[in-house]
This record gives sequence, C-alpha cells and structure tokens, in this order.
Amino acid sequence: MPFEDPTIIVALDFPEATAALDLARRLDPAQCRVKVGLELFCAEGPAVVRSLRGLGFDVFLDLKFHDIPNTVASACARAADLGVWMVNVHALGGPRMLAAARQAIPAGGPRLIGVTILTSHGPEDMAALALGDSIERVRGLSLLCREAGLDGVVCSPREASGLQDLRAGGFVLVTPGIRSEGAAPDDQRRTLTIHEALAAGADYLVVGRPVTRAPDPAAALAACLAEARRAPRPVPFET
Ligand code: C5P
Repeated sequence: MPFEDPTIIVALDFPEATAALDLARRLDPAQCRVKVGLELFCAEGPAVVRSLRGLGFDVFLDLKFHDIPNTVASACARAADLGVWMVNVHALGGPRMLAAARQAIPAGGPRLIGVTILTSHGPEDMAALALGDSIERVRGLSLLCREAGLDGVVCSPREASGLQDLRAGGFVLVTPGIRSEGAAPDDQRRTLTIHEALAAGADYLVVGRPVTRAPDPAAALAACLAEARRAPRPVPFET
C-alpha cells in the first residue's frame, strides 16, 4: 500500500499551461502528485502532461471517460501512451465499459480508477438523478469497479470508511472534496478535512482550490502535508 507515497494530488485546474506550470514549479514532485483535469487538458492537450512529467511529477489524468466500451478503451490506451500515473473512467459507464477500459491499459501502465458519485452531488442531486443514497450507491459502483479489475475508485471522503474491506489487495480510494474545518466548500457537497479523510481510510487526497487559490500555494501544501503526517491511517482489512 502507498503509505510512503505522496498522498496529496494537487488539482491543477487552470485555463492555460503557464499558470499550471508556474504553480507546479513551486511544488516538489517528491511531496505531491498533480492532476490534469478537463479545463487544462481542453486548453493545452497532451503537451501540458508531458511538461509536468518533464518536471518530475506523476500525473493523474482526470478526464472521467464515459462512453461506449470501444471509445473508452481507445481513450484509455492513448492516456497510457502519455505515460500518466493514473487515469479515470466513470463507473456509471457500466461493467462492459469498465472491462474494456481494463483490457486497454497495458501491464505497468497507469492505475485505472473508477469515478463513483461526484463529490459535488448532495442529497438533492442524488434525488433528482434517482440515484438513491450516496453511501449505498458508491459502494455498489465500487464493487463493480473491483469486479472489473480496476485499481481503485474516486469517492468522497465520507464514503471511505464504508469501503475499507475493498482496499485489501491494493484497491485504492481517491478522495476529492477536501476542505479544512469552516472553509468554504465552493461547489463541493460531501467534504471532510485531510485528517478526517485519511483517518477514514482514503489512500490519495485530491486538493485543488485550497492550494491553488491560496496566497502562498507552497505554504498551503506544506500545511496539508503536515496535517496528513499527523493523521492516523487505518490498515486495509478483508471481510
Ligand atoms: O478545488 P477542489 O479541491 O474542489 O478540486 C477538486 C478536484 O477534484 C477538481 O479538479 C474536480 O474536477 C476533481 N474531482 C472531484 N470529484 C470527483 C472527481 C474529481 O471534485 N468525484
């Protein structure tokens, strides 16, 4: 398990490469990983991923693929060609799509992670989408991802404690929705602090605006790392 790995993944949600690379240069690739999402990838494409890799960072390509199995498999193969560390697909794409994605990633390629229910979904969104209870739905989708041989899931930190049995064997829990006590949630709905998320058994924490919008992002990341070091980390268990 990745206890000695950098636990924090900084979401580089910027409209262009210069700002993202400027921020990345202020961070240490031995201390954190970085995430390229839809905004930055739409603006800059694969070049920004290569630049970040050139700075020494492991890159999580967060494009949340969700399409027919053949299309998603091909996209996963191209992401693997880019040399990213992690890539994700939507678990709601279903078992055949998940299996196709799994098959498309070569051995030694990126970790393949399934997005369960977005951390921005609160009870009203779950009801509007007829998705039921978030804890139950996240567990069901996580089981689908595990059965399809994925390497883990993205969930909110609030669901992490209920998924501890799934972590046995190296299945990882990646949790965005990280906010310190009393901080503005922005558009997130199911949030916890770094300490709470790690204590609940998350493996990797995605932190965006609390670092990137801080007056001193390097200092904000250092504070996140210090909080992470103090947090208890449950060992995965098998049922
Ligand atoms: O700024 P903030 O910390 O809210 O950023 C969270 C990041 O994690 C964003 O880049 C968002 O796209 C991503 N993410 C998320 N919820 C998911 C999957 C990814 O918030 N379920």
